[in-house]
Order: sequence, then structure tokens, then C-alpha cells
Amino acid sequence: MPARFHNPVATVFGGGSLDHIAELCEGKVALVTFPEAAQLGLIDRVRNLLGEHLAYVIDDVQPNPDVAWLRDVHERFWREAADCSTVFALGGGSAIDTAKALIVGTASGHFDELLDLLAAGKRFTPARSKTLIAAPTTAGTGSEVTPWATIWDAQQQKKYSLHLDCTWPKVALIDPDLMLSVPAGVTVSTGLDALSHALESIWNHNANPISDTFALSAIEDILDCLPRLQQDLSNRELRSRMALAALKAGMAFSNTKTALAHSISYEMTLRHGLPHGIACSFTLPLVLGLAWGRDADRDRTLQRVFGHDLAGAQKRLREFLHRLGVKTEFGDYGVTAAEAEAMIDFAMQGARGRNFIGSQAA
Ligand SMILES: NC(=O)c1ccc[n+]([C@@H]2O[C@H](COP(=O)([O-])OP(=O)(O)OC[C@H]3O[C@@H](n4cnc5c(N)ncnc54)[C@H](O)[C@@H]3O)[C@@H](O)[C@H]2O)c1
Repeated sequence: MPARFHNPVATVFGGGSLDHIAELCEGKVALVTFPEAAQLGLIDRVRNLLGEHLAYVIDDVQPNPDVAWLRDVHERFWREAADCSTVFALGGGSAIDTAKALIVGTASGHFDELLDLLAAGKRFTPARSKTLIAAPTTAGTGSEVTPWATIWDAQQQKKYSLHLDCTWPKVALIDPDLMLSVPAGVTVSTGLDALSHALESIWNHNANPISDTFALSAIEDILDCLPRLQQDLSNRELRSRMALAALKAGMAFSNTKTALAHSISYEMTLRHGLPHGIACSFTLPLVLGLAWGRDADRDRTLQRVFGHDLAGAQKRLREFLHRLGVKTEFGDYGVTAAEAEAMIDFAMQGARGRNFIGSQAA
């Protein structure tokens, strides 16, 4: 089978690239951003750059966009920002995923119509949509180069995955300078999200030599940079290398999707409140062990980073996580061995778990 790789997102990368936002936007623009953006001067900066084209601002996106908040915001957005043709998401994965949900309009104007379509799990063509431009302010999710958005329902302990042709951003604008204000904890958790994307794209039925190229390069950068960046948050070069690593990891999983570690993470976030990046990375040494020996070609790719000794590879990954202050056992998060086993079995059956090369459900 020939390898195929497709990513339709135009990418702009480099310190100061936010200054080019006006060249990339068409028509009136709605800005979707995170609460700290105002204080950081980012909203004023975007207002200066876009002038009268900036017509609508949502600046209170909370981590992990939840239906309880999104319902009103979505309905108001389609009533009040109908004349905006572009949505500019400036923020972490939460702002970008919120923007992806916002650009998908319903015929009735009711958000629950969209939720019903997502719950049905079938592909659909939205009644109306807008163009998305995404500028990540964290180095992690890769959401700027993927079509996926995770929408959470904490009350029902559920999550929805939104992905349509229109939810690929038209442009990803990656300006590492925007990441200089990210605090240490978020720097680590988002960096580990990127590491998880890269590894999950390798131990994946959908992997190919092109996604592997992005993934291997991302892993090498993250293993080298993230511990140093944790100690030196204002280092522009390390911020830039992590931004590029997150982009490469995003490119890799934009074509493979994620796998078992992410499938486990959804339970850990919904039931145990773990931030996404920690939830999808603390199991990486364990999942590496489950992947090893399943597929000779996948082993060869993993061994390019970790060498030929599985115990040594797991030890290296565990020590890397511990050095960043991340605990690696389920018990550390209050999950018993029996609960963990049940969680892994359940995760293997999930949509992402079935991408994992060790899944029996594939
Ligand atoms: N669509 C995808 O492909 C994809 C992939 C992975 C994760 N996600 C989703 O992304 C979300 C997590 O995104 P995230 O990890 O980027 O975190 P986030 O967007 O939730 O941001 C984390 C915290 O950092 C703050 N913040 C963001 N940028 C900042 C900056 N430059 N300076 C100071 N503070 C800043 C935010 O306000 C927030 O409090 C989750 O909901 C997850 O499900 C999506």
C-alpha cells in the first residue's frame, strides 16, 4: 500500500508572525481567546492589527470547552456575529476547539442540534460554517493543524469529537513569542500532550513513513527541550523549538489520529480531573510496553528513539516524566490496579483505542 499524507492547513511559523494576521483574514473577524489574553495585551494588539475588521470578541474560554458553557455562547455567536466570515482562534487547545465548534452552524440556530449530530456519530454537512484561522498560544495540542475538536460534557461524564471538512483551519499561525507567558505547569502539560501525539502516531495502525518522520523529529526535540524549558521559561529558542515540535507532532497525528494513551486520558480527565496533557502522557511508559513486539516495522521506528531494550526504554520515559514532576502510575492518581485494568480494557474498545497496534478490537 502506498503511503498517503494529506494536510490542507497553510502554515505560517516564526516569532512575530502574529503581526501578519491582517493579511490572512478575509471579511469581518470574530476573535476567540482565553481569559488572560486581555491582561497580556493580546486583544488590544489584535484590535490594532485588524482595525475595524475585528467585529466580535469572545475572551472567556475556559479550559476544556464544556457543553454547559458552549450552548449559550454558540447560540449568541450565530445571532450576534452572523456577519463575521472568519473566526480567529488565539489561545491554547481550548480556544481553538471552542472556535471549531463555533464555526459549525445549525439550521435551527440551536446548539443541541449540533450535539445530536455529534452523538449520532455519523458524518454530516453543516447547515452553515465560517473560516477558521488558528494561532496557538501553547505548544501542545496541534489543534491548529488538525480537524478535531473535543467538546466535553462534565455533567454527563461524556466527550464528543467534532471533525468536519470545514473544521480544518485554513491557516495555522504559529508565533512562539505568544508562548512566553505560559506558566511552568501548562508548559509541561502541553509539551507532554505533544509528546503523546507523536508517540501515539507511531504505535498506530494508520502510521506511515511520512507521519513517522514528523513524529520522530518531534520526540527528539521534546525529550531534549522540555526539561530545559521548564527551568528557563523565557528562553525564546526553547519556546520556538517546542512550538515547532508541537507542530510536527500535530502534523503526524493529523493523519493517524491518536491511540490508547488518549483513549485512557478521557476517563482520567472526566473522572479524576487530570489536565489533558498529564492525562494523556502519564501512561506513555506503560503503553510503550503494550506496543512493543506487536509489529516489527513499528518496533523499528520506536527503536530509532529508544534503542533495542524495552526495559531501558520504559525507564528512560519514566525518568523523563518524573524529572518534569509527573507521576507515572495509576495509583498515584487514586486509581486501584483493578480499576486501571478495567479502564485500559474499556479504552482499547474506544474509537482512539482501536487505532492502537496492540488493540484486539482493531
Ligand atoms: N483538537 C485537537 O486536536 C486537540 C488535541 C489535544 C488537545 N485538545 C484539547 O485542547 C484542550 C487543552 O488545550 P491546552 O492544553 O492548549 O490548554 P488550554 O487551552 O486549556 O490552556 C491551559 C491554560 O493556559 C492558559 N493559557 C493559554 N495560553 C496562554 C498563554 N500564552 N499565556 C498564559 N496563559 C495561557 C489558558 O487560559 C488556560 O488556563 C483540551 O480541551 C483538549 O481536549 C485538542
